[in-house]
Amino acid sequence: MATPAGPLHGTVAVPGDKSVSHRAIMLGAIAEGVTRIEGFLEGEDTRATAAIFRRLGVQIDAPSDGVRIVHGVGLHGLQPSSEPLDCGNAGTAMRLLAGLLAGQRFDSVLVGDASLSKRPMRRVIEPLAAMGALIESDGGCAPLRIRGGRALQGIDASLPVASAQVKSALLLAGLYANGETHVREPHPTRDYSERMLAAFGVPCAFVPGEAALLGGFPLQARDVSVPADISSAAFFIVAATLVPGSELLLRRVGMNPRRTGLLHVLRAMGADIAEENTGEQGGEPVADLRVRHAPLRGIEVPVEHVADMIDEFPALFVAAACAEGATVVRGAAELRVKESDRIATMATGLRALGIVVDETPDGATIHGGGFHGGIVESHGDHRIAMAFAVAAQLATGEVRIGDVANVATSFPGFDTLARAAGFGLRAA
Ligand code: S3P
Repeated sequence: MATPAGPLHGTVAVPGDKSVSHRAIMLGAIAEGVTRIEGFLEGEDTRATAAIFRRLGVQIDAPSDGVRIVHGVGLHGLQPSSEPLDCGNAGTAMRLLAGLLAGQRFDSVLVGDASLSKRPMRRVIEPLAAMGALIESDGGCAPLRIRGGRALQGIDASLPVASAQVKSALLLAGLYANGETHVREPHPTRDYSERMLAAFGVPCAFVPGEAALLGGFPLQARDVSVPADISSAAFFIVAATLVPGSELLLRRVGMNPRRTGLLHVLRAMGADIAEENTGEQGGEPVADLRVRHAPLRGIEVPVEHVADMIDEFPALFVAAACAEGATVVRGAAELRVKESDRIATMATGLRALGIVVDETPDGATIHGGGFHGGIVESHGDHRIAMAFAVAAQLATGEVRIGDVANVATSFPGFDTLARAAGFGLRAA
């Protein structure tokens, strides 16, 4: 249950980046030596990945919150699991693991929750099959039965969808393949796998939109310091922008250029977001973000920013609903196959709060207006629930958000941090 707030103030440290946390466990597990991860996201998605590698015979210690010590078993040291491997809600876990497990000597089964079991997996199954992998699915969806003991061959793949998950799956399979694996993307996506593989000593060359590596090289363990997740910061960035009188400082936010699309778009709409104390953390650019309230105007979101803000559209839709004029989103059909159909769930929820939204197959036009109170459904999608918690801060009445437990997949403690910053939020 969420109610309008007064101005938002203070300093917010959002949890570690989900994408980096998943990859640090995976690469640490198949490296030689011990990888210490700091700033690990204690979310359900990333914990699912850690639990899977424990099942595959990797010792992973959790001495304190946000710290993991991964005792690497080397490229060929994973052990078969007698049980299916449960990815929960995590698409990143399932798709990256499909690639990694395709290169093992043993068979594996990957399962997920109801939402993950509906998400498209052919996008990884087909290019992995072209490398020689054999993965059986249920009509292109999980459960995935991955046959081991196959000789994989490097390929030169031009992907039809811009997806860091698919690119990463191929690169992880490429570690076990003969020769070079080369992946080309229609739009550049986040390059954490490439950066981390190179940092772990794999000959991996990459430029925006392209990555290549040579199979057969061992990974050398190294410590990973995970920056704060800009996708989690996004809800506070939008809230401080929208609520009059607000000023929030977000600490050590990851500023990888493939993740900062929302900042470009919000600034083009009139937002006041300053980058302070810029630096590097674990090989990634980071900055403190100071966000002050500013009125927004609607824009046409440039298509070249879509991949760089793919997880931020729920937050952007809320910003657009409070802007003057219309905001047009195009080229974002991928939103329909995320944890929920994010175009449909956001359009339905915004309409329930009084906003006019025209849906299109690959986006929407959101007509700025004001929110009244109402009931919205998040359909078990963490980012939809948090986006509507932000919307509620601007509403003239109470907003009830259904099905919010999944917030813990990416942002455990969101409600506590949000209340401390001044959000009006309570359990129903
Ligand atoms: C992710 C890539 C994105 C993103 C997801 C995390 C990753 O998915 O939506 O939350 O860690 O590689 P796609 O690569 O399918 O766009």
